[in-house]
Amino acid sequence: MESLDGECQSLELLKAQAHAWNHIFSFINSMSLKCAVELGIADIIHAHGKPISLLELATKLSIPPTRNNDLRRLMRLLVFSGFFARERDGNSHDHDEELYIPTTMSALLVNQKDVNVSSFALVMLDQMFLHPWYHLSSWLKQDMLPATPFEAAHGKGVWEATSQSPAFNSLLNEGMASDARFVAKVVVEECGEIFRGLSSLVDVGGGTGTMARAIADAYPHVKCTVLDLPQVVASSEAGETVQLVAGDMFQYVPPADAVLLKWVLHDWSDEECVKILKRCKEAVPSKEKGGKVIIIEMVVDLDIGFPELAETQLLFDMHMMVQTTGKQRNKCEWKKIFIDAGFTDYKITPALGLRSIIEVYH
Ligand SMILES: C[S@@+](CC[C@H](N)C(=O)[O-])C[C@H]1O[C@@H](n2cnc3c(N)ncnc32)[C@H](O)[C@@H]1O
Repeated sequence: MESLDGECQSLELLKAQAHAWNHIFSFINSMSLKCAVELGIADIIHAHGKPISLLELATKLSIPPTRNNDLRRLMRLLVFSGFFARERDGNSHDHDEELYIPTTMSALLVNQKDVNVSSFALVMLDQMFLHPWYHLSSWLKQDMLPATPFEAAHGKGVWEATSQSPAFNSLLNEGMASDARFVAKVVVEECGEIFRGLSSLVDVGGGTGTMARAIADAYPHVKCTVLDLPQVVASSEAGETVQLVAGDMFQYVPPADAVLLKWVLHDWSDEECVKILKRCKEAVPSKEKGGKVIIIEMVVDLDIGFPELAETQLLFDMHMMVQTTGKQRNKCEWKKIFIDAGFTDYKITPALGLRSIIEVYH
């Protein structure tokens, strides 16, 4: 007969096994989400205007009847994860008559909406960013080079890859632009005071100019410039409100009252960030004369009180480690690079959910 101790140990082991399996299969959440975005499931459910049945959904997605049950299984997972909700059709006991309805989360998957995470999901889950994970353990055992698992997988860094692959370049640019639309909306609507007193701003590593255009539209007195790599500027839409400059932020940053660095420094090591920040310091006037650098990034705080937010910060830091030489930084790490670059003062405003606005002065 099994002892009570033995039974408890077995129970613990079974719980541990369930936990391990959950982690082993977690990638299925990511890939199912990607599939939902590729199929445009949220677009159809939101456009339908009322609860939609599985059969109607399958028809609109052009999914053949032989795959209806597979679609139902995909929807079951997506409902379980909160991306959609389900209503039972009171008149039917048939599984096919399950009705799907939108949720706040599914609103973020609607491609036609300005504010969505669809393009971001597609680039983060693209093979270019997935292959490097297969190199992580061997890379960790190598001394200096390759600099990242991304380089181990592709023989080049991310920005060299975007310069050589128009498809990867446009996928990455669109993923970044979709996030910029999201952040710009919140920053312009709710954090407008950060632009008070500015007459010019240069968005360094500003991608295809989405953020700069939103700032220029909301604050027409602020002359906005975007500095980015030639391959990015070449695929940006020229607009009347924003000037585009192709260049290298390690060499030169055009002068302005403020430099914006959104999601740029997390791509680089501390030493590289100090170099970029020194160029930015040369470009902006002192605090007394109204100059500043505005950084939009995570400030890692694992005691934040929301386990999902803390875990997302850790996951995103691993993404930076695998794809770039960068990282997500906590308050002390940010302070150190600001001081090393010659700045004297900074202010952190945690106004963007997972991210903060950091204003840095000299
Ligand atoms: C993670 S993306 C962020 C884009 C944009 N700021 C946003 O948040 O949507 C980083 C950007 O830095 C640009 N970049 C990389 N190296 C650069 C360099 N040496 N000089 C200027 N821009 C650079 C990339 O082309 C890319 O557009």
